Amino acid sequence: MAKSYLHLFRIQGQDFQNAGKASTGLKTILTQIGIDADIIRRAAIAAYEAEMNVVMYAQEGLMTVEVNSSGIRISVEDKGPGISDIDMAMREGYSTATDEMREMGFGAGMGRPNIKRNADEFKVKSTVGVGTQVDVRISIN
Ligand SMILES: Nc1ncnc2c1ncn2[C@@H]1O[C@H](COP(=O)(O)OP(=O)(O)OP(=O)(O)O)[C@@H](O)[C@H]1O
Ligand SMILES: [Mg+2]
Repeated sequence: MAKSYLHLFRIQGQDFQNAGKASTGLKTILTQIGIDADIIRRAAIAAYEAEMNVVMYAQEGLMTVEVNSSGIRISVEDKGPGISDIDMAMREGYSTATDEMREMGFGAGMGRPNIKRNADEFKVKSTVGVGTQVDVRISIN
């Protein structure tokens, strides 16, 4: 791959109607580029979980996807409440999802563990009252 690619997707908080569009867009782009199916699957899962967390917990966010010959970087930055205890939020089963969200099938507390499992690198930065930034890298080859 000689070229490198950059795509931005906006994510709107509480907009369950359009939830998943950013990660679907990412999947389309990676497919067009000709990325290996297993890499696409891992990137799409990580992107979807990060996107859903913006929809569920934040006001708005921006997903930036960069692809080059060495890998895929997905960065999701949001404006929102932030996370006071990132270690606790990373634990399997920890969730502050509302009953309404649980009825929609979310809130198992598996989003972040799922991102970690599918990423080669995973970083979370957050400032309470400001927002959260999630950085995922998936290597190619
Ligand atoms: N972008 C975010 N802004 C604020 N809080 C967040 C954000 N992302 C996650 N959290 C907090 O971390 C918790 C754990 O997130 P995680 O994605 O693992 O689980 P979940 O979203 O609650 O459930 P699931 O992802 O299984 O539907 C959330 O319940 C929420 O309290
Ligand atoms: Mg989640």
